[in-house]
Amino acid sequence: MFRSLVVKPFSRSAATVSATLGVKSAAARHQLNSIRFVSTEAPAYGMIKTETQGRVAIITLNRPKALNALCSELFHEINDALARFDNDANIGAVVLTGSERAFAAGADIKEMKDAEFINNYKSNFLGHWAEQISKMRKPIVAAVNGFALGGGCELAMMCDIIYAGEKAVFGQPEINLGTIPGAGGTQRLTHAVGKSKAMEMILTGSVNLNAEEAKAYGLVSAVFPPEKLLEETIKTATRIASKGAVSVQMAKEAVNQAYELSLSSGLHFERRLFQATFATKDQKEGMSAFAEKRKPAFVHE
Ligand code: CAA
Repeated sequence: MFRSLVVKPFSRSAATVSATLGVKSAAARHQLNSIRFVSTEAPAYGMIKTETQGRVAIITLNRPKALNALCSELFHEINDALARFDNDANIGAVVLTGSERAFAAGADIKEMKDAEFINNYKSNFLGHWAEQISKMRKPIVAAVNGFALGGGCELAMMCDIIYAGEKAVFGQPEINLGTIPGAGGTQRLTHAVGKSKAMEMILTGSVNLNAEEAKAYGLVSAVFPPEKLLEETIKTATRIASKGAVSVQMAKEAVNQAYELSLSSGLHFERRLFQATFATKDQKEGMSAFAEKRKPAFVHE
């Protein structure tokens, strides 16, 4: 009877579940207590930290000695955590951040320096980086302090919103290493800052954007003092997570199509999703709440 039950170990004990389900007989309680409760607790990560604040999940890159250089293991952990939070109905938005010194100083140069083309090609090197992030249905807000260079800048640009600390530095220095950006820099940076600036940054490898410049170019949407950055980012993520999750997901999908579709196809896509929101409880609640001059209580359905 209870075989498929999955319970968060820290939110409910077996006893609480027994009580909630009104399990009265000793035999049924025994059966329930012998169930292996599947843990949804964070696995033990070595290079990131994860926590939740209400409906917001926070992933902090934590490889300080290498300035959060993105080695394979670090990226696997990021992807794993993102997948977990994307599938957690209690989470409405994710914040991705690093340390005050570095969001991430790029792909791990020491790890990849001896790599060969044939293995890169066969393993689709860097392909796995964006896989989970681009599949994410929930919004990700990046809080960037310090260096966001190479793959670090690209990682920030894979997120939906970027907030920067005053000392943030965005750049694509790969050309200095005899290579080019490989995780979206030539594409997303160009969309964000325009061709001339993107070319200047990518071809020289030394023209970087500070936080205010990044804001002026539209790469980031707000700049905060470093010590306030995470708090402000979490505030925005909390605001997003308080909205109806279905309309948030649809809005994110529609905005992202602006990068993929012609204007008429994009407008068509948007209109269909807009019409579809009227099948949700949250649209009924949101509009009724407006008419009744009260705050909506979204149920994310
Ligand atoms: N890979 C591996 N290790 C890195 C790293 C990286 N991308 N960036 C920094 N580190 C390591 C350094 O080697 C150093 O380690 P040790 O103490 O063991 O020597 C440690 O982090 C601290 O770095 P620095 O001593 O260099 O610190 P700094 O303050 O003097 O300079 C910096 C900071 C300007 C960010 C400098 O570290 C730097 O230029 N890093 C490389 C930046 C870069 O080229 N990024 C692009 C990588 S390629 C890429 O990302 C491809 C892609 O498109 C995906």
